[in-house]
Amino acid sequence: MPKKKNITKKTTKNPKKPQAVKEELLLQPPRGMRDILPADQVYWQQIRRLSEKAAADFGYRRIDIPLVEFTNIFSRSIGEGTDIIDKEMYSFSTKGGEKVSLRPEFTAGIARSYIQHGMNVSPKPVKLYYSGPCYRYDRPQEGRFREFFQFGCEALGEQDPVLDAQMIQMGWRVIYQLGIRSVRVSVNSIGCPACRKSYRSLLVHYFESKKQKLCIDCKKRLEKNPLRILDCKEDKCVQVRASAPQSIDHLCEECRVHFKELLEYLEELEIPFDLDSNLVRGLDYYTKTVFEFLTVSEGGGDAKKNALGGGGRYDGLVKMLGGESTPAVGFSLGMDRLAVEMKKLGARQYKEPKPRVFLAQLGVFAKKKSLRMFEALERSGIRVAESFGRGSLKSQLKVADRLGVEITLIIGQKEALDETVIVKDMASGNQEIIDAGKVVDEVKRRLKKIGH
Ligand code: HAM
Repeated sequence: MPKKKNITKKTTKNPKKPQAVKEELLLQPPRGMRDILPADQVYWQQIRRLSEKAAADFGYRRIDIPLVEFTNIFSRSIGEGTDIIDKEMYSFSTKGGEKVSLRPEFTAGIARSYIQHGMNVSPKPVKLYYSGPCYRYDRPQEGRFREFFQFGCEALGEQDPVLDAQMIQMGWRVIYQLGIRSVRVSVNSIGCPACRKSYRSLLVHYFESKKQKLCIDCKKRLEKNPLRILDCKEDKCVQVRASAPQSIDHLCEECRVHFKELLEYLEELEIPFDLDSNLVRGLDYYTKTVFEFLTVSEGGGDAKKNALGGGGRYDGLVKMLGGESTPAVGFSLGMDRLAVEMKKLGARQYKEPKPRVFLAQLGVFAKKKSLRMFEALERSGIRVAESFGRGSLKSQLKVADRLGVEITLIIGQKEALDETVIVKDMASGNQEIIDAGKVVDEVKRRLKKIGH
């Protein structure tokens, strides 16, 4: 008798293997992240070039640290109760169960590295600079991304306010040299833990009496982080804080003198700055000086202040992470925001050095010879262009013309066999055949004669 079919089971070709559900392929990066395409690199190159030059001019040495750190390095440094830690961290557990996070900034990782590698025994201050991507799960909007890039400098082991002034000078110089002339510096002092304690109580006392008028977030901040109420953007909080006590009126003698000296240095440097008693910054490690580089952009009738960078002193951070007491100060610039601003202003872009020589070839044997010739010319510092993929000499010479080179070198079948090269002066059109072995010297001689 034929077997009865089981009609309740669904019949599939291979019932043991579940059908894989294909997820939709989204051809875009996650929200708040983007590609920086070659057309925009002209701005980025200029930013990298000028910022690294400033770092070198002021004696800073490059450091690279991992993109990922143990989460508590960030939560202890930046502080529980800050937006970065409470809302914006990309945190996850590894397969080995380690709790790690993508860096939302560099300073905490730099302090960790300073302690780990015993940099405290190096001559002070230890001056470090860095650049690279950071991650914050923030609400994306113009100039605010979830993956963004910072350039920054940190000086560890020095408490003199002249270092604070130099940090401001460096950041300001880079921004200004990029062509962003509307930049202004906001500065404030939030004191040291000793004077901040009494200031904090005054602030709590003040805001407690106006609690009903504060936004929901600020009501919470009143318990956790009352200083942050000072930089809330909500209209009602802005009104309430207008008559709040100001930190600079409540500094201890040491912090007051430090701030006074910093302002004198800034005046000496002729850097335009504004005292902003509401500037507290969104990271808990700061002591004494805090500052931001701001540019004002017109947006929909409203003048909007845009922070291109910020920084300050963090004298307690290294100790808090387990190192010895180490005064320190630093700043970071938001490279994405600098690029956005430069683009808006049509600021000066980085110009790739132009090739001065074009290398044309005809035939397989000549192409092989040209590969070696290209290498020899490049190695001796001559910028050469080529179009090896093109077959006809005519189309190669067209490229040479378009690039505006001064000399074109041509290797045809005959020249490849004879070990010679045709040297064509592009201005006069004159051609000369020379030994392949003498090309580098001859090209150098001619370029020197042409000049620049
Ligand atoms: P920060 O103010 O949090 O400070 O960030 C510095 C700069 O990074 C900002 O002024 C802004 O230009 C840029 N930035 C921050 N978040 C974003 C974002 N979501 N999208 C685009 N750009 C952004 C720090 O990170 C401190 N570590 C600075 C410092 C160094 N303090 C002492 N040393």
